[in-house]
Amino acid sequence: MVARKHPENRWTAPYAGVCWLTALSVDDLELVFGWRSSEAIQASMFTLGPITFAEHVEWFRRISSRPTQCHLVYGCGDESLGVVSFKAIDDVQRTCEWGLYLGNPIRSKGHGGRMGTLSLDFAFSHIAIDTVRAQALESNNASIGYHAAMGFHETGSVMKARPGGRAEISLRTFEMTRAQWDGIREGLIRRYFGAGSAS
Ligand SMILES: CC(C)(COP(=O)(O)OP(=O)(O)OC[C@H]1O[C@@H](n2cnc3c(N)ncnc32)[C@H](O)[C@@H]1OP(=O)(O)O)[C@@H](O)C(=O)NCCC(=O)NCCS
Repeated sequence: MVARKHPENRWTAPYAGVCWLTALSVDDLELVFGWRSSEAIQASMFTLGPITFAEHVEWFRRISSRPTQCHLVYGCGDESLGVVSFKAIDDVQRTCEWGLYLGNPIRSKGHGGRMGTLSLDFAFSHIAIDTVRAQALESNNASIGYHAAMGFHETGSVMKARPGGRAEISLRTFEMTRAQWDGIREGLIRRYFGAGSAS
């Protein structure tokens, strides 16, 4: 049997205060479509947009039935602020790929570290992953700097063709193992959630 990936309700941690993760639901689709359609998010995505709302709903229908994917909304208090995706979840190798974005990276500046820390905690504890992998467009300095700040190790780069027969694009690749996570977790919690919050 395939283990359930998404949390039943909001998922949080003792250090995280009012911040949470929850399964992406049909009620979030309009909000997330707005985020995904913005220039800032489009520029960071591997798949080239824009897509229609109907395509977005179809994407949600497709991913909802895939046990190898887990898509979450990150928020604080009453406000939803971003999306975290774990894909290619392999229950045998215990590996996955993650990607995330703040819906409005400028207005929500400063939440990236909190969203990443809580999400990595979720991956290593709730879905029992041993290695999280990530890719960033060569042109996305924010993502490259962000992954370094979150403690990911750069593993190299790959050329990958974008959908629709477009030219290949260079992606930088990153990895974090459970052993690395165990070594940096408390430091990230202190840095992004404040002194004395590590637990
Ligand atoms: C990437 C993203 C999540 C960062 O969020 P953020 O709120 O700016 O992150 P924070 O301010 O909490 O910073 C977290 C760390 O990332 C680093 N970082 C953030 N933006 C950066 C940039 N433009 N260049 C270099 N480093 C950056 C910060 O310096 C910080 O490290 P520090 O604690 O050592 O100082 C956000 O900009 C975003 O959603 N961008 C659009 C989507 C995207 O590019 N996603 C890529 C991830 S797969």
